[in-house]
Amino acid sequence: MVPNVSMAVDVRTLAGEQENPDSSGSAHCRRVAALAMELSRAAGFPPSTAGLLRLCNLVDQQFESQQFEYKDADSILEEIRSFAPFEGFDAALVEHIRGLRCRLPEQIRRGEGLPVEAATARQIFGALGQEREYEVQELASVAVKDPVVAASLIRVANSSLYSPASRFSGAGPAIAYIGTVEARKVMLAAVLRPLFTSAGLMRLWNHSVSAAQFCSALAEKTERVAAEEGLMLGLIHDFGALAVQFAPRESRDAYTRLVERGCPVTYVERLIFGCDHGEIGAEILSNWNFSDRMIEAVRFHHQPERSEGPLTAFIYLVEFWSGLDEDLPSFRRVGECLCRAGLSLEALAQTGTKNSALKTLRSLS
Ligand SMILES: [Fe+2]
Ligand SMILES: [Fe+2]
Repeated sequence: MVPNVSMAVDVRTLAGEQENPDSSGSAHCRRVAALAMELSRAAGFPPSTAGLLRLCNLVDQQFESQQFEYKDADSILEEIRSFAPFEGFDAALVEHIRGLRCRLPEQIRRGEGLPVEAATARQIFGALGQEREYEVQELASVAVKDPVVAASLIRVANSSLYSPASRFSGAGPAIAYIGTVEARKVMLAAVLRPLFTSAGLMRLWNHSVSAAQFCSALAEKTERVAAEEGLMLGLIHDFGALAVQFAPRESRDAYTRLVERGCPVTYVERLIFGCDHGEIGAEILSNWNFSDRMIEAVRFHHQPERSEGPLTAFIYLVEFWSGLDEDLPSFRRVGECLCRAGLSLEALAQTGTKNSALKTLRSLS
């Protein structure tokens, strides 16, 4: 059955020029329009075809309700297919949404097909991932194995934040000068940077470093999570986003179009990959021998109601506060996570990050 074109609504009107472009209604319309435009490419109907818009509207509503009841993308589409006779769209159109789906290569999910820098990152995270005190010599022996890490330490120690009397040229003295706590932070952040740079995701590296600072500040404030654990979680929480670049070209193009037209990245990831970057990142990190606690927080950082761990609540709040809009807004999730983290919205807003070595590393980049 061809959808009833006479009932068509102008998708450009739906997508856009609402009175308040920031309202949740406008955001919903933009997402429906984005989906309709993507499906129209595949189905060969105009994006304003009424049946197509009804279907996209249902998809968006179902994704919005995931905060109340989790359903995977396949179950959502199956359910929507059964609505076709009542909602007035051709059930076959659902297949065009399924057609967007691609499976990421297995070795990427295991973290084995990432750029060569990933091997170094894995080694350094393995060596420095424990929550304990480190000796200068211990850190220095790790730093000398990677020129990027050693250079980052030297740059930070020579920066205006530390203003040394004479400039450092070796990693060991630089570590001794800035202290092992700050040095470890710099090393962990520095080793991730080339991974994000090679994927053209510098913005994501900056976001990860900010998240690390904010997450460890929140941890210090509430004392429910160790500051070191907060730092590490902030750095690695969006690691799964690296995998997107390994999807087939067609899928990456569809991903980019949907995101540029207003769909949050996790929304698009669930449609195209069947899971979000938290779930992808958790798979990679479980093969890198991270702790179960950390893996769970990464896995559910955009679905915090699926995990009771305090770390998950912390990183969800960090994402919310970053303003990057990686997922659909949810006051319910924010409220629950504030409660679990033992924070008020005011306390979250007042959490600042002090001038640290990590901040300096970011400004030098
Ligand atoms: Fe993030
Ligand atoms: Fe995220």
